[in-house]
Amino acid sequence: MTKVTIKRFNPEVDKEAYYQSYDIDIQEGMTILELLAYIKDKIDATLTYRAFCRSAICGSCAMKINGRAQLACKIQAEDKIKNEQIIIEPLGNFPIVKDLVVDQEKSFEKLKQVKPWLEPDRKKVPRTDKSESLVSPEEFAMYDKQTDCILCMACYGSCNANEGNENYIGPFQLTKAFRFIQDSRDGMDIEGRLEVLKEDGIWDCVQCQMCLAACPKGIKPADDIQELRRISIDFGDESMGAKRATSWFKDVYTTGQIDKFNLPVNAKGDVKARENMEKEFRERGIPEERFEPKPFDGIEFMQKFIRKIEGEEI
Ligand code: FES
Repeated sequence: MTKVTIKRFNPEVDKEAYYQSYDIDIQEGMTILELLAYIKDKIDATLTYRAFCRSAICGSCAMKINGRAQLACKIQAEDKIKNEQIIIEPLGNFPIVKDLVVDQEKSFEKLKQVKPWLEPDRKKVPRTDKSESLVSPEEFAMYDKQTDCILCMACYGSCNANEGNENYIGPFQLTKAFRFIQDSRDGMDIEGRLEVLKEDGIWDCVQCQMCLAACPKGIKPADDIQELRRISIDFGDESMGAKRATSWFKDVYTTGQIDKFNLPVNAKGDVKARENMEKEFRERGIPEERFEPKPFDGIEFMQKFIRKIEGEEI
């Protein structure tokens, strides 16, 4: 027997969430979704969860299984038994509607914010159905993977930036933005698309990489966000996030380390912050020559390496 422990909450009767356990004889080949269906059909009809396709396509059944956001229909229950137990909880970062069902409304609102659709460029997308607007295989390869997103929101439910900032746009939303920015048939101006991503968006991602681990389709929102940052800087982004990133890069390229005294000045013109830091360091008896970072030995090798990554022939 395996102890299956499920986080339960019914806002109509419960003051707070609680854990309920069921002893289940897990059969070979049973998915987590089938396990939940078994509990609902045979033991406790009040258990509530969301599912539809049972084929890892509709994205409805994302939930936390032993602490990790996954699709219940894709995961074998046997593989999840740890110390004779499986723990199932709703996705994080969402209000709970009931038991394992979460309220996705706000997350969908954020998706709308990035305009996840093509505004056809009429020079490239004809109005008639007599001709096609072809995309080259090379271009399609740039966003092919991102089109696999099934909106399961496992990435959003695992995201540390979303946990710390409820206004953060979110990983799959930013991946959608990336996908349409790359599409040559799109007629919306890129600056306009990028503008809505600056506040609580690309610069607020903490690069924890949890979205990569959670995505059942192998999409990498954290990588797309890095790419969006690069594009945004190329398009003249002067937000604090862009200035901070540019300043970090310059510091690391020049000396191999972040210039913490000048970072507040470079990112947001905050001279006072530098003065306060210098004062504190003086009071702690730290010698002034240590205020300015010096290039480490062998910095030329690292600079050459960075230039090579950036595509320079070396
Ligand atoms: Fe559709 Fe799991 S039920 S993805």
